[in-house]
Amino acid sequence: MNSSLPIVAPSILAANFAQLGEQIKSCLQAGSTWIHCDVMDGHFVPNISYGPTIVEIAARVEGAFADVHLMIEAPDQYIDTFAEADAKVLTVHQEACPHLHRTIQHIKKHDIAAGVAINPATPVESLLPVLNNIDLLLIMSVNPGFGGQRFIKETYKKIQKAVQLRRQNNANFLIEVDGGVGPDNIQQLAKTGVDVFVAGSSIFKADNIAEQIELLTQKAKKGTLKQV
Ligand code: DX5
Ligand code: ZN
Repeated sequence: MNSSLPIVAPSILAANFAQLGEQIKSCLQAGSTWIHCDVMDGHFVPNISYGPTIVEIAARVEGAFADVHLMIEAPDQYIDTFAEADAKVLTVHQEACPHLHRTIQHIKKHDIAAGVAINPATPVESLLPVLNNIDLLLIMSVNPGFGGQRFIKETYKKIQKAVQLRRQNNANFLIEVDGGVGPDNIQQLAKTGVDVFVAGSSIFKADNIAEQIELLTQKAKKGTLKQV
């Protein structure tokens, strides 16, 4: 993936679905090409969102780069479907994959980026055996299932651990954080080492989507410059 960092990835879960196309275009005009698509099945998480049809609509908007987050049980059964829906990053949950190494290979067979997500209670170390196989590590900073939740502060330690393990293992995955990200914490998150910032309510509940994305991007860039 050759996107320039830092990346602000609007999560369309918080979008106004009656104006989805226009809202995605506003994100693109503000420089956010990664469109974060939260797929929820009501089993792995206590909420149902949308499926491949909506993902395909988002992915087909000119210039969009569909960053698909599968919060579903048995994601292996749907990898081909979301690849056909033009997912550019396909992220599965470690907690939903008994054969994670094989699942990652399955995603990469489609020549799309393979991401693995971990819930707040799942240690980064649990991914040690696959850190050199993944393109993206998604660290959940809320318990998955809903937008608009409060950021879990313990996430900072997990980000630091992910940065440390990436360096120690000569891995090159991107670190993405997802949930409760906004203007108050994005700079500190960037300083801690996050590359991709998923933001739903802080973007789509703002008065002006494009201006909010520009603000978040500026703050993320400032934080990146201060990385230790
Ligand atoms: C939660 C989703 C997140 C969520 C982010 O399960 O994975 O992507 O939509 O929404 P905010 O930014 O509102 O916390
Ligand atoms: Zn998500």
